[in-house]
Amino acid sequence: METLSASGTSIDPVAIRADFPILAREVGGRRLVYLDSAASSQHPRMVLDAMDNYYETTHANVHRGVYAMAEEADRLYENARTSVGRFIHAPDPAREVLFTKNATESLNLVAYSWGRHNLQRGDIVVLSEMEHHANLVPWLALAEERGIQLRFLGIDDAYRLDLTGIEDIVAGAKIVSLTLMSNVLGTMPPFADIARLAHAAGAVVMADGAQFVPHLPTDVGALGCDFLAFSGHKMLGPTGIGVLWGRRDLLEDMPPFLGGGGMIRDVRLDGFVPSELPWKFEAGTPPIAEAIGLAAALEYLEAIGMEAIGAHQRSLTSYAQQLLNDRFGGDLKIMGPAGVDDRGGVLSIAYRDIHPHDLAQVLDQSGVCIRAGHHCAKPLMRHLGVTATARASFYLYNDESDVDALADALAEAGNLFW
Ligand code: ALA
Repeated sequence: METLSASGTSIDPVAIRADFPILAREVGGRRLVYLDSAASSQHPRMVLDAMDNYYETTHANVHRGVYAMAEEADRLYENARTSVGRFIHAPDPAREVLFTKNATESLNLVAYSWGRHNLQRGDIVVLSEMEHHANLVPWLALAEERGIQLRFLGIDDAYRLDLTGIEDIVAGAKIVSLTLMSNVLGTMPPFADIARLAHAAGAVVMADGAQFVPHLPTDVGALGCDFLAFSGHKMLGPTGIGVLWGRRDLLEDMPPFLGGGGMIRDVRLDGFVPSELPWKFEAGTPPIAEAIGLAAALEYLEAIGMEAIGAHQRSLTSYAQQLLNDRFGGDLKIMGPAGVDDRGGVLSIAYRDIHPHDLAQVLDQSGVCIRAGHHCAKPLMRHLGVTATARASFYLYNDESDVDALADALAEAGNLFW
């Protein structure tokens, strides 16, 4: 393992950057300033090495072979499940942690399997207007298919969830499924409080943790969720692997999502018997190298400390809010909560009337990578009255010099489009 650079509650992004080969590259002769980790984060050498090493020394399919190397691959894959369970404080990782393709697939799995098993015409599902399409489209499809009713928590003027009348909104709901951190606004709803109300109303509660889990300590018990979905590639791991954690009794009761090899105990020409948890939900050859890469990413994050990573995110976000407000005043609007107590390091920006895509292209000429677009949250864009935003997002390898570079590049764009 390479030298980790953090101790206590403060971290050293410059030393951390040295662990990330890609961050040494330049773009058009300028230092790469990567401010798009909410879309996908970068990888420390340790993650790349873990995956290379697996392919070079241990690759075999899992849960099929009886030879020694296949058993080694089995062990590495199942150890990765244990690592994920530890990271989110799952009570029973060996049964409750499912590997999927990404957070989107995890959310779909619940809508398709739990939803089709438990929801009938007229049943109520509660979502919010700030959800990513991955936590909207599967429910919209179910509404079309079987006539379930969708209710939405709105958004207030401070870009927070509007909890007015929430008791009435969750009353009679079968499931409440909400983001832990908006990928556009950075807003972190008071999830545990909402989960308590939802449970009191008899609903199951799902958390979309795609943006939250990479940045803050996560404890499924403290959150009070019954399902938690997140992706590996936003937390220093590879693409192609996601996680669904679910309460064991709920998962036991759910039918398989996908059918195929690995998920059955028996198949006859007139039926099949599914395997036990977690394999019931892992049809086909799973993402083995990706699970091993994800486990290495979690080891890296844990060595630095999620408390320290969360504190760094708050301090960098606060620096960015202040710098951008001081430097651009009323020309620049940050669409997200002021302050940092209930928001993450995601800054959606409107700068004068410059189109977000133009802004992102001009910033790229300074080596600054941000995302422009609707961020897979079109209902939220409609609520904000825009078609797109320019979004900068921070992670443990970013520091104030990256925010300064963002501000300088915005000023250059301002001059260009004057
Ligand atoms: N959901 C990812 C984002 O917000 C891709 O950019």
